[in-house]
Amino acid sequence: GGQGNGGVTAIAELTISSLPLETRCAPFPLRQHGGFWLPETFLPGLEAARARFEPRPSDVLLASFPKSGTTWLKALAFATLNRAAYPPSGEGHPLRRRGPHDCVQFLESALVVSDDMFASLPSPRLLSTHLPYSLLPEGVKADSSGCRIVYICRDPKDVLVSWWLFTKKALGTQDGPTNGGNKPMLSNGPYWRHVLEYWAESKRRPQKVLFLRYEEMTRETTSNVRKLAEFMGCPFSGEEEADGVPDAIVGLCSFDHLRSLEVNRNGANDFNIKNDSFYRKGVAGDWANYLSPEMAAQLDLVIDDELRSSGFSF
Ligand code: A3P
Repeated sequence: GGQGNGGVTAIAELTISSLPLETRCAPFPLRQHGGFWLPETFLPGLEAARARFEPRPSDVLLASFPKSGTTWLKALAFATLNRAAYPPSGEGHPLRRRGPHDCVQFLESALVVSDDMFASLPSPRLLSTHLPYSLLPEGVKADSSGCRIVYICRDPKDVLVSWWLFTKKALGTQDGPTNGGNKPMLSNGPYWRHVLEYWAESKRRPQKVLFLRYEEMTRETTSNVRKLAEFMGCPFSGEEEADGVPDAIVGLCSFDHLRSLEVNRNGANDFNIKNDSFYRKGVAGDWANYLSPEMAAQLDLVIDDELRSSGFSF
């Protein structure tokens, strides 16, 4: 207490400029911190969140690596958690007017560094993060805080291809992320470590961390939404099931529906990234149209090596 916002920012900047710098993940300069390569622009937000974020027992934090299904998870969780106030089939639903990224903000968002860090949001709060588990605010991780974490995991080859095309399209760079040694350099990476941390925690404390997979969600969307609702503490009632509420949420948040909305075709989010860049193809396995079998085999080799003896596989 007692420290002004300016003080926090100044201290964070001082530390940030001394961290190892990586510029091969165009257009984001990355800084190495806690064993991960994090976008420089989010580091003040990370510091502010760790210093000042106060978790509530009803908080739900959606965690993901960029390009692994963040937008979809935000839409599904938002629609599920807020279905009493906003019935999914209602014309006035917020997701019909605002993009999922504006409905669910990032914990480490630099935009909130100087204000009250989500304190004014009503409970239950829904927030998101691309931070690795180990760097989350301690209060969020503590059993005693009661707040819950949902992680979405995706096939690394699809994440890589999605990232590469996203940076080219949304951010207007000529090249996507380039090769870091024999491993692709992606913001918030290494990816395998990001996944492993959340996966290990979901095994240790399944009531604290729900681990979802993009591929399973594309195959069985409704049953995954039921799982999500139960985990968030708001399971669907028999009446809601009879009324088709879970399916209505799935329909509202489907790739084709979200992408067709005016806000997602022509709008931009608070970070000035065009909303349409978050909707590309939305399927599992599209990497095969971009990576040669040799490239895929090379990536598999790197990942198998990193996952060895972890007990986890994609
Ligand atoms: P592709 O590039 O493979 O199509 P993120 O939201 O984490 O940035 O991830 C973006 C990826 O999720 C993109 O993958 C995008 O098309 C896909 N996606 C976005 N909305 C989706 C939805 N409603 N359902 C399924 N996939 C979706």
